[in-house]
Amino acid sequence: MRKLSKRLSSILDAVEFRETFYDVCCDHGELGIAAAQSLLANQVIFIDQVPSIMESLDLKLKATDIPSAVGVKTWCQDASQKEIFIKNSNFVVAGIGENTAISILEKIDLCNDSEIILSIHSDNFLLREYLVERGLKTTYETVFEDNKKLYELIKVSKSKGAPTTKVGSAMWSPENQASKRLLLNRISHLETRLSHRNDKNLKFVLNSLKEKLKHYS
Ligand SMILES: C[S@@+](CC[C@H](N)C(=O)[O-])C[C@H]1O[C@@H](n2cnc3c(N)ncnc32)[C@H](O)[C@@H]1O
Repeated sequence: MRKLSKRLSSILDAVEFRETFYDVCCDHGELGIAAAQSLLANQVIFIDQVPSIMESLDLKLKATDIPSAVGVKTWCQDASQKEIFIKNSNFVVAGIGENTAISILEKIDLCNDSEIILSIHSDNFLLREYLVERGLKTTYETVFEDNKKLYELIKVSKSKGAPTTKVGSAMWSPENQASKRLLLNRISHLETRLSHRNDKNLKFVLNSLKEKLKHYS
């Protein structure tokens, strides 16, 4: 098995076995390949909208040891244009911005037995707002660091978990030093944004984050 980056292995660590694993916006496909090799699903579906990426991935999959019990499929398409019925699945969206993530989630029909796992490459206040509006609950959230970059990971479900909040809850944990660094970064970034324009919503987020900071010594 190839060695995964800390970012990808942190995402995979949050995944429990389900029938299907969607590696959405898969690019290199490393996440889905590792999920297949770790037997985290009976079927792995890779989705990316760039034809050359999917051609390379098809070749890579042919040259990779995938357990025979696991079926793989590649879909070359804009995930924000495809309605997908998500049953007994992990739907993993990583490495993209929040607006793209929201447009992709808009299209999916999520069953109670499935989870969405999100680790996006930006602030995610809008994404969280979207999850709250959609009534999706948080089953796990954390902050981790890889190669001096900080990432947030959120796992949501329709049927179980704690209410999702606009700024996150359990992931702001004094035991996790990476979470303190992310919190300080977010606060500083928001203060800069608010010094340029007054925005009630951002002010609410900033104040909520400052409240979280009080839990750290
Ligand atoms: C930076 S890569 C992320 C790869 C991998 N998920 C990761 O986290 O390492 C982003 C990929 O998302 C794909 N992508 C962006 N928007 C997409 C969309 N709407 N539908 C399908 N693929 C998309 C791009 O083609 C690109 O390959």
